[in-house]
Amino acid sequence: MDSKSKQGYTDNPHFETMSSDFLYHINISTSSHDLKKLFSDVKFVCIGGSNGRMLNVAKYLAKELSSYMPETVDFTDLTGSSDRFVMYKVGPVLSASHGMGVPSMSILLNEIFKLLTHAGAKDVTIFRLGSSGGLGIKPGTVVVTTEAVNGEIKPVYEQFILGKRCERASVLDQRIAEDVKSCGTSEDDFEVVLGKTMCAGGFYEEQGRLDGAICHYTAEDKFTFLQKLYDSGVRNIEMECTGLAALTNQVNMKAAIVCVGLLNRLENDQVTTPVEKLHEFEMRPAKIVGRYIKKKLDEA
Ligand code: URA
Repeated sequence: MDSKSKQGYTDNPHFETMSSDFLYHINISTSSHDLKKLFSDVKFVCIGGSNGRMLNVAKYLAKELSSYMPETVDFTDLTGSSDRFVMYKVGPVLSASHGMGVPSMSILLNEIFKLLTHAGAKDVTIFRLGSSGGLGIKPGTVVVTTEAVNGEIKPVYEQFILGKRCERASVLDQRIAEDVKSCGTSEDDFEVVLGKTMCAGGFYEEQGRLDGAICHYTAEDKFTFLQKLYDSGVRNIEMECTGLAALTNQVNMKAAIVCVGLLNRLENDQVTTPVEKLHEFEMRPAKIVGRYIKKKLDEA
């Protein structure tokens, strides 16, 4: 059945027949929360893998965008007793964690899309602020994704639905990617580059590492594949991009993927960067996206 029903940020004819909706993994319900009052002003959603980082992102954005914030910003985790994700609201921005990999992230995305639809939020842009393995880039470089590709270097997200393989196109808005990239300045002590991103289904074999518990290929096989990726324009590898590009495209939500490369995979497999440096690296996507959001709020 092809869905013809696009309401808000959903694409599901059954959605409007639901009399109430419990967003289980973020522990928010239409019957216990006034979603319009709480979330109708959301314009930007920042998501990233880890709980702690997304609290730091919320605090960072509250400071950077202080003129657009209420007098007191509350950093209470809106998911309450749910132990899956965290979510904070700072003015017009939601900051939420999505865990690791597309399956985890797609659960969060479904619930955020429904949350924003129930709330009547409009003109929302979502950003994934992530970490990744860089390809031929200096560790600490920020990559803004121009195209999200799968492990066969195709811009496709594969799902199995009711026993059938379903391919959804992974589509990103080039203009937003370029605008986000242009938020990097010569004063930054890191580079911001545009490039394709490969989405892997795991961290070890799926990313061509030699240091997993299981590996049935040679170092030469690994480098041949990584070089092929590089030659196709791929500049980093992570585990969420095709899912984000395809699912946001499905519901017409604008999206950008902004990831720091923690290492150069043409040189290393192990992430051995000292933890303080890693934390600093991981905030770089937030710095760039914070500037983009500020620009958009100033223009509005
Ligand atoms: N995240 C990934 O998915 N891969 C890396 O190499 C580093 C971070």
